[in-house]
Amino acid sequence: MSELADHFDIRPIAADDRLNGLSLGDSKFTPLKIFLQKHARTLEAQSLARTYGVFETGGAKVLGYITLVCGEIVADPDEVNLTKDPAYRYRHYPAVKIARLAVDKNVRKNGLGKVLIELALGIAKDRISTAAGCRFLVVDSKQDAVEFYQKRGFTLLGTQTNLMRSDPILFIDLQKA
Ligand SMILES: CC(C)(COP(=O)(O)OP(=O)(O)OC[C@H]1O[C@@H](n2cnc3c(N)ncnc32)[C@H](O)[C@@H]1OP(=O)(O)O)[C@@H](O)C(=O)NCCC(=O)NCCS
Repeated sequence: MSELADHFDIRPIAADDRLNGLSLGDSKFTPLKIFLQKHARTLEAQSLARTYGVFETGGAKVLGYITLVCGEIVADPDEVNLTKDPAYRYRHYPAVKIARLAVDKNVRKNGLGKVLIELALGIAKDRISTAAGCRFLVVDSKQDAVEFYQKRGFTLLGTQTNLMRSDPILFIDLQKA
């Protein structure tokens, strides 16, 4: 992390950042590129999403990003009890949701994805869950990234419906993180 910190800045996107040029490889990731280029700033201005970019230190090139929104986990209380509360079985669990995450293909496997998840966890746990009810960090993961999230401590929501989804829900319990 300290070596990385010498080469990259991770900060909220700003109005004058150049947000094009992210190279994600496979065309299935094009929507992630377009979101950053065309939509992230609008959603930022409308307080509908918060996006944090990874930038080369001293440079303008964006190398990755994560977008966070308020969200929830909705689950049939007969199937799961995420709080293990014997007195009440919830259907809606408040959460911070990772709405988008991508790292440029030329700098993958350098720990940037991990740093972005740590950033999201810190924000969810230390800033949001202390100010409003919020128990989980959640993501609808692309199949290719499920293992990445599991390595970062996320658990697959164990409902039949979820396990069959093309973009299954994974979560971290902020009280245990
Ligand atoms: C998934 C993604 C963000 C990971 O970024 P990254 O910077 O390469 O990740 P890191 O270098 O921090 O990897 C951390 C760990 O996860 C592993 N990992 C990274 N990508 C992985 C993947 N797709 N599947 C399994 N493990 C993966 C790394 O090997 C590393 O393991 P280690 O801790 O044992 O060394 C990046 O591959 C990406 O942008 N993919 C395309 C877009 C995408 O799938 N986004 C997720 C949408 S839900």
